Amino acid sequence: MSQPYRIEPLDGHDRSAFVSGSDALDRYLQQQAKQDMRRRVATCFVAVDIEGGIAGYYTIAASSLVLDALPPEQAKRLPRYPTVPAVLLGRLAVAQSHQGKRLGGALVADALIRATRAEVMAYAMVVDAKDAVAARFYEHLGFTRLGDDQRRLIRAL
Ligand SMILES: CC(C)(COP(=O)(O)OP(=O)(O)OC[C@H]1O[C@@H](n2cnc3c(N)ncnc32)[C@H](O)[C@@H]1OP(=O)(O)O)[C@@H](O)C(=O)NCCC(=O)NCCS
Repeated sequence: MSQPYRIEPLDGHDRSAFVSGSDALDRYLQQQAKQDMRRRVATCFVAVDIEGGIAGYYTIAASSLVLDALPPEQAKRLPRYPTVPAVLLGRLAVAQSHQGKRLGGALVADALIRATRAEVMAYAMVVDAKDAVAARFYEHLGFTRLGDDQRRLIRAL
């Protein structure tokens, strides 16, 4: 990253000026993220720039993966439970003015660290990429596509 950012849970930050290029992801941050946190269905972390603005955000939540959907070489090392626990990287967006500065990669790395350190165990991080471009971004960061599903990718923790 070429600029310093602080990554912290979404709280009283000003969300109104956030523009990532995806209306749905901007709207989520502005209208839904805090409610999801209050209802304990997802945690939202924001990257704050030196001026205090939100430069990017991601959400994580508990999830699960069907064991039989995992690549056989991974599944064979796991107990024969029907599902294994996972952490869902639900949403990820970087403000347009901050894109291309390695912030997206840093946010994913931060999510992986938090998931690895959590006391509630999870086998992998899972993400549903919103399009083919996003899927290639996650592949670049070490995620692999789950079988024939072109949008779902995982990375073992
Ligand atoms: C996708 C997004 C999060 C990437 O964030 P970013 O800060 O611009 O990306 P970074 O600068 O951190 O890129 C990290 C690395 O991924 C690479 N990369 C970025 N986009 C890529 C893509 N589409 N395909 C392959 N590699 C990609 C970068 O070259 C960089 O590689 P390097 O570290 O080896 O040099 C950002 O463009 C965005 O918010 N887009 C709109 C919303 C969106 O699509 N979100 C994804 C939701 S599923």
